[in-house]
Amino acid sequence: MPIKPERRFLQHEEALNEAIHKDMHYWKLLQAYYRGAMLEVKTKFDVLNEKFNVDHDRNPIESIKTRIKEPRSIAAKLARMGLPLSIKSLEDNIFDIAGVRVICSFMDDIYTLADCLSGQNDIRLIECKDYIAHPKPSGYRSLHLIVEVPIFLKAETRHTKVEVQLRTIAMDFWTSLEHKIRYKKTTLQEPALEEIGQHLSRISQNAASLDADMQKVRDAIAQLEKELESDGFCS
Ligand code: GTP
Ligand code: MG
Repeated sequence: MPIKPERRFLQHEEALNEAIHKDMHYWKLLQAYYRGAMLEVKTKFDVLNEKFNVDHDRNPIESIKTRIKEPRSIAAKLARMGLPLSIKSLEDNIFDIAGVRVICSFMDDIYTLADCLSGQNDIRLIECKDYIAHPKPSGYRSLHLIVEVPIFLKAETRHTKVEVQLRTIAMDFWTSLEHKIRYKKTTLQEPALEEIGQHLSRISQNAASLDADMQKVRDAIAQLEKELESDGFCS
């Protein structure tokens, strides 16, 4: 009899948990590195937000969320990639264990912040996936970066990978609702499934057009401010 998918996931999770239990001390250490790296990157964004506020009198960041990937999701991803369910394997292959999600006010803030972060001396940019320029077939839009950040410990420096997802409020709105709907979708059949997919893709395009309109308004205001400044109205 074929093993049900849920049962298979459970087996993967159990296999990884077993590996973790065999080396609990190292696992705890590893988690401390990931948490440290995540906080380091979050702080970098907080600092950029402060600086932007001083320079331009506005905050480009609406909110920042952080998370550490659960062993269950790590196990599922390793299994999906056909990789061993071990601590070494997750360390070498899973680059989104530490995650930082940055919700931005405007579309160009995303690229400004990404450039500012990647340009910092202690940051190494490993990967950049631009799902804004090239949305996923689902309609998903965001900018994904994998960066490596040094964590300074008592006797060593540890370079740790963090996944950064940057998106606007409209992109975040679409992503969270699509995520919720996706779970419901698993019980549906074709052609309803295809129809819902098309609906979601259209909503994503509407969200993209909202982002573009908001950006235009912001640019127009910035241009007016510049003109007023050069006319001597502002000082
Ligand atoms: P994961 O194993 O899911 O991490 O895939 P990956 O490492 O190949 O990365 P990918 O660039 O596909 O981005 C994965 C992450 O982006 C997911 O964990 C989600 O947070 C988000 N994401 C990607 N595609 C979608 C989508 O179609 N809908 C939603 N709601 N989120 C998505
Ligand atoms: Mg990922």
